[in-house]
Amino acid sequence: MKLSSANINVMVKACRKAAKILIRDFGEIENLQVSLKGPGDFVTMSDKKVEKILIDELLKARPNYSVLSEEIGKIDNDEAYKWIIDPIDGTANFLHGIPHFAISIGLEKDGEIICGIIYDPIKDEMFTAEKGNGSYLNNQRIRVSSRSQLKDCMIITGGPKNNSNESELSLKEYINFSSKVLIPIRKLGSASLDMAYVAAGRCDGFWQRNLNYWDIAAGIILIKESGGFVTDFNGKKEYIQNKTILATNAKINNEMIKVLDS
Ligand code: IPD
Ligand code: CA
Ligand code: CA
Repeated sequence: MKLSSANINVMVKACRKAAKILIRDFGEIENLQVSLKGPGDFVTMSDKKVEKILIDELLKARPNYSVLSEEIGKIDNDEAYKWIIDPIDGTANFLHGIPHFAISIGLEKDGEIICGIIYDPIKDEMFTAEKGNGSYLNNQRIRVSSRSQLKDCMIITGGPKNNSNESELSLKEYINFSSKVLIPIRKLGSASLDMAYVAAGRCDGFWQRNLNYWDIAAGIILIKESGGFVTDFNGKKEYIQNKTILATNAKINNEMIKVLDS
């Protein structure tokens, strides 16, 4: 079965085009690691190139939609629809030649995410979701895991960012969760893929502070459409405003909220 609506097709096409550049540039990174200048500026250029291709393609197909994208910020067009874009999510991995990063695009309608795509170009894994039509990985339906006890679960997180004034809280949460799970907590370095992995049942729960909307927009619909819960740390639907996010397989949601509250 395949997820194939007009908007999803536009997103897939944009992603595939931008991914060609991303894959080519990733191949260059190894050489740059050993050069004196290092890959920093090159990665910034890559980010901008990928973003430009995405925005050009998306606006070519939907000229009236607005845009919120990490590098260029906002393009305000007068429509209820908005593309939310992170051209490279997992930049630090990309910069270090670690093959775990993604292009993430969410489509918002009247403040609600209705479509999402998260594409890992190196593993050629494309996660897509649409409101009411389910979540998919490379055209196969995906669902969240069925593990119901936190202790048996694979939990993931990211951060804390070095400039965050919530670092101590994040570290406390990390310690608290560590004492509850048998498998050590994973930090994979791409919030969008973290959410895609919960949606696909590879991981069971994800929590993080200080995320931006473009890090999680596509992940929100992937989690919802795969049967998971996505909320703030109190279990309420305010994850966008306060920038904390809890995404789970639904079964361990209450247990995770309790740990976050402790
Ligand atoms: C980052 C990644 C990372 C998360 C950071 C984000 P970027 O996005 O999603 O996993 O821990 O908070 O900023 O900078 O690679 O687009
Ligand atoms: Ca990001
Ligand atoms: Ca980014």
